Amino acid sequence: MKNKVQLGFCFALCISATFGFATDRNSLVVSSTEPSKESSSEVAPNKEDVAPIVPKIYEMKVDTNVSNRFAKTSVVSKVKNLAKTAQEATFSVVLPETAYISGFVMEIDGKSYKAYVKEKEEAKQIYNEAVGRGQAAAHVEANARDSNRFTVSVNIEPQKKAVFTLTYEELLQRQNEQYEIVINIHPGQPVKDLNVEVHIDESKPLKFVKSPPLRTGNEISKNDDKVASLAEINKINSTSATVKFSPNIERQKQLATGLGTKEENGLAGQFVVQYDVERDPKGGEVLLKDGYFVHFFAPTDVEALPKQVIFVLDTSGSMEGNRIRQLKEAMNSILSELKNEDLFNIVEFSSIVKVWNVDKVEVDYEVGEDPWPLYDTPDAPKKNKTNQVLPPAYQATEENKEKAKKVVDKLNAYGGTDIKSALEVGLKLVKKNKEDKKNTHQPIIMFLTDGEPTMGETNTEKITSAISELNSGEIRSPIFSLSFGDGADREFLQKISLKNLGFARHIYEAADASLQLQEFYKQISSPLLNNVNFKYVSNVTKLTKTVFPIYFRGSEIVVAGVAEDEFVPPSIEGNSLRGPIIWSPKVENPVGDLERLWAYLTVKQILEARDAAEKKEPYTKKALDIALKYSFVTPVSSLVVVKPNDTSAVNTEDASKSADRPYFLNGSKLKHYALTSYTNRLGAPTLSLGQPVPASAFAAPSPQYAQILPDDAYESFDTAQEVTSMYISETTQLPTTIPTTTDLYEDIKNKLPWLKDIIMENGTITLPNGNYKISTNETVTSTPQCPKTPINGTAGVCTLLPHCPQVFSLLTDAKIFQDFFCPLDTFVGVCCPITTGATSASS
Ligand SMILES: *[C@@H]1O[C@H](CO)[C@@H](O)[C@H](O)[C@H]1NC(C)=O
Ligand SMILES: *[C@@H]1O[C@H](CO)[C@@H](O)[C@H](O)[C@H]1NC(C)=O
Ligand SMILES: *[C@@H]1O[C@H](CO)[C@@H](O)[C@H](O)[C@H]1NC(C)=O
Ligand SMILES: *[C@@H]1O[C@H](CO)[C@@H](O)[C@H](O)[C@H]1NC(C)=O
Ligand SMILES: *[C@@H]1O[C@H](CO)[C@@H](O)[C@H](O)[C@H]1NC(C)=O
Ligand SMILES: *[C@@H]1O[C@H](CO)[C@@H](O)[C@H](O)[C@H]1NC(C)=O
Ligand SMILES: *[C@@H]1O[C@H](CO)[C@@H](O)[C@H](O)[C@H]1NC(C)=O
Ligand SMILES: *[C@@H]1O[C@H](CO)[C@@H](O)[C@H](O)[C@H]1NC(C)=O
Repeated sequence: MKNKVQLGFCFALCISATFGFATDRNSLVVSSTEPSKESSSEVAPNKEDVAPIVPKIYEMKVDTNVSNRFAKTSVVSKVKNLAKTAQEATFSVVLPETAYISGFVMEIDGKSYKAYVKEKEEAKQIYNEAVGRGQAAAHVEANARDSNRFTVSVNIEPQKKAVFTLTYEELLQRQNEQYEIVINIHPGQPVKDLNVEVHIDESKPLKFVKSPPLRTGNEISKNDDKVASLAEINKINSTSATVKFSPNIERQKQLATGLGTKEENGLAGQFVVQYDVERDPKGGEVLLKDGYFVHFFAPTDVEALPKQVIFVLDTSGSMEGNRIRQLKEAMNSILSELKNEDLFNIVEFSSIVKVWNVDKVEVDYEVGEDPWPLYDTPDAPKKNKTNQVLPPAYQATEENKEKAKKVVDKLNAYGGTDIKSALEVGLKLVKKNKEDKKNTHQPIIMFLTDGEPTMGETNTEKITSAISELNSGEIRSPIFSLSFGDGADREFLQKISLKNLGFARHIYEAADASLQLQEFYKQISSPLLNNVNFKYVSNVTKLTKTVFPIYFRGSEIVVAGVAEDEFVPPSIEGNSLRGPIIWSPKVENPVGDLERLWAYLTVKQILEARDAAEKKEPYTKKALDIALKYSFVTPVSSLVVVKPNDTSAVNTEDASKSADRPYFLNGSKLKHYALTSYTNRLGAPTLSLGQPVPASAFAAPSPQYAQILPDDAYESFDTAQEVTSMYISETTQLPTTIPTTTDLYEDIKNKLPWLKDIIMENGTITLPNGNYKISTNETVTSTPQCPKTPINGTAGVCTLLPHCPQVFSLLTDAKIFQDFFCPLDTFVGVCCPITTGATSASS
C-alpha cells in the first residue's frame, strides 16, 4: 500500500558495535526524527528488478596520523547507487578494541549528517527503539579479534551518492618492542580507488618502520609473501615517515585470495605498520606542551628479574579435546623458554586442585573432593591429605623442564571448575616460596580457564574479594588471566586480574590457540622492574596512574597529566635485579598537541577502574565527563546522528522491510522474532532475524516454535547457527485495567513510542483523512464496526485508542497503525476485537 501522507519516523538506521572484552555494548544510534517531505516509496522497487545490486564503493580512503604514539584514523568511503531503484548501502568499519570512535559524518545526496556523542542513557531510548525495530542485528560483517565493529546502513536513491567518514583515536601500546598500527580493510567489494596512508611523526628518531604482510585478523600471521603489503615506505627525515598502501583492483583480488576470501568480495584483511623509536635507556622522555605532559617510560638498561611462574591450568571436562591439546602444545613451548634462574610450579584444577611434584612427576598435594570420581578409578586408594606438604617451586633446569613436560603430558580433562581453590593454592605457592627462600623472584600467576566457577565457591563476587584479600599485604603476585574460548566469564576474569596487579587476555578458540598462548606468555616473560613509582614534586594535577607493580621488557609505561606552574620532572623509583633504581626523565617538546592523548589515557584508566569496582557510579560519571568533552564513544557514551531538518534522504522504511533484514514486532510487552539463516556477503553463514512476519501469525504463538528468551537473547543469535528457521516469541501478560487518570496520555505515549514522533503539540496527529486527537478521558457515542483488527484480521469495533490496550503490542509503528485506524468523531480510534472485554467506545 502507498502512503500519500508522510508521517515522521524515528528510525534508527543501524547500530552495531560489539564490544569485546568486559565492556558494555556501545550503542551507536543513527536516528531521524523529522518528517520526510518527499516519499521515497515513489521509487519503491517492484518485484522484478529487486536484484541485490550493492551500491558501488568507488573510493575508500584510510588516513592515519600518528604523533607522540597517539593515532588518529579517518576512514572515508564513497558510494554510488548505480541501480534504478533505491538501494541500501552499508558502511562498516572494524576498529581496534583499544580505539575510541571520535566522530562520524555521513553525506547523502549532498546533505550532511553529523554525529554527536551523548550519554548512554540519553541515547538508550532511541537505541532501544532501534533494537525493537530490528535494526541492531543488521548485516553481520567480517570481524577480527580484539576489535569492535561500527556499521551503518542507509537507503540511497537511484544514481545518488553517499560519503561516510568515521574517525577513531587510540594510544598505541608498545608490545614486543614495537608499536603496531592495525588498519582493518573490508569494503566487501573490490574498490577502484583504495588508499591507505599512515603518517608517523615522533619527537625521537624512528628506529624502524615496517609493513609486514597483510593479516586476516583472525589468526596469527604466517608471514606469507603472497599477501605482502608491498607498501611504499617513505622516510621523510629521522623522526617522520609515511607509509602508503594503494592496491589496485587486480592486487586487491590477489590479496583476497591469499587471505582466503572470495575475490569478488574484495580485500578483507588487516594492513599493519610497525615502528619503534630511539629512547632514553633509563628514565625515558617527558613531552611537555601547553601545560599537558606525557611521560614515555620503556627502559632497556636493566636485566630481567628472575621469576617464579605459577601455571594454574584448568583441566575441567570442557577442556577436553582440542583445548587441552592446544594447551599442552603451548605449555611445552613455554616451559622451554623458562630461564635457568626461573622457578615454576604447575597447578592443575577441575573439581579438585592438584599441585604437581615435578621431580616425581606425580600429584603431591590435593584440595577438594571430586563428587564424580572417574568411572575407571572408583576403587583407587584415596589420597591421605592429612599431612600433605605443598611442593616447592622448581628451578627451571633442563632436567626439571623435561620432567615438567611429562607432567603436562599427563594432564587430563575431567570434572568441574573450582576457581577459588585453584587461585588460593597458587597464592600459597607464592607465599611458601617467599618464606622458604627469602629470594627476590618476581611471582607471576598465569591463570587459564575456559569456564565459569562451578565447584566450591561459585559466586564470582565472593571469589574476587576472597582472592584480592588473600593476595594483599607484603607478598603480592600479579594474576594474569587467560579466558579460553567463549565459555569463560571474561568480565569476571578481567576484574580479578585488574584487582590483582595483572590484566586479562582472551584466547580465541581457533587453530592457532596454542600460538596465542605463547604470544601472551612472551609479553609477561621478562619482568625488568617491580614497584615502579613516578614521584612528582611540583604542582601537577589530573595525573593518570603513577604506580605500576611490574614493568615487562618490550612494553611501555605512559603517565600523563597537567603541569600547573613550572614543570619539574618526576623521579622514577623501582626495584631492579641490582637493587633499587631512582631515575629521572629528559624533558622534550612533542610534535603536536598532547591534550587528547591525556584525555584518552585518563578515560581508559577510569573505565578500567570501573571494571574492577563494586560501586561503578562515581567512575561512570568521571568517565562520562571526559568522554563527552572530548567526544569519545566509550562504554558510557553513545553516538547519535540526528537527521537535519529538511532532508528526505534517509528513509529506512524500505530497508527495514527487505527480506534479509531483521524484523521484530516489538510491542511494549510482546516480542516476536523470526529467524532465518543466510550467507553474508563475505560468504559466512549468518543467522539473522529474518522474514517479515504478519502480525496475525502471532495471535497465538504455537508452543512448538515459541520459546521464551531473555531480553538480550538476540545477541546470541549469531552463534546459534544450526537453527535455520524458527520463530521466537516472548510474551508477558498485558495489563487489563485501563488507566483513567490524566497519566493515560503519557502512558499511551510510552506504550506506543512512535506516537511521540507524529503527535503535534496540541495533541493531534495527522492521518491521511485529516487531523485527529488522542482522547484522554473523553467519551464518544458512536460504535462503528470496522473491517479488521490487528489481532487476527477479523472484524471489530472502532474504539478510542487508549481503550484498546490489547492491540498496542502489535502497533509497532505509525505505518502499521494506519491500517487499523478508524475515526471516532475528532478522536483517534483503532479497530478493536469485540469479544475480548475491551471497554468499547459506547461504554
Ligand atoms: C592527518 O594530517 C593531515 C595533514 O596535517 C591532515 O590533512 C589530515 O586530515 C589528518 N588526518 C587525520 C585522520 O587526522
Ligand atoms: C621531519 O619532517 C616533519 C614533517 O615534514 C617535520 O614536521 C619535522 O620538523 C622534521 N623534523 C626534522 C628533525 O627535520
Ligand atoms: C593419614 O596419615 C596420617 C599420618 O600421616 C595418619 O595418622 C592417618 O591415619 C592417615 N589417614 C588415613 C585415612 O589413612
Ligand atoms: C601549586 O599551585 C597552586 C595554585 O596554582 C599554588 O597555590 C601552590 O602554591 C602551588 N604549590 C607549589 C608547591 O608550587
Ligand atoms: C532544525 O529545527 C530546529 C527547530 O525547528 C531549529 O532549532 C534548528 O536550528 C534547525 N536546525 C537546522 C540545522 O536547521
Ligand atoms: C477530563 O474531563 C474533564 C471534564 O470533562 C476535563 O475538565 C479535564 O480537563 C479532562 N482531563 C483531561 C486530561 O483531558
Ligand atoms: C493542531 O495543530 C496543527 C498544526 O499546527 C493544526 O493543523 C491543527 O488544526 C491543530 N488542531 C487543533 C485541534 O487545534
Ligand atoms: C479473532 O479473535 C476474536 C477475539 O479473540 C475471536 O472471537 C475470533 O474467533 C477470532 N477469529 C479468528 C478467525 O480466529
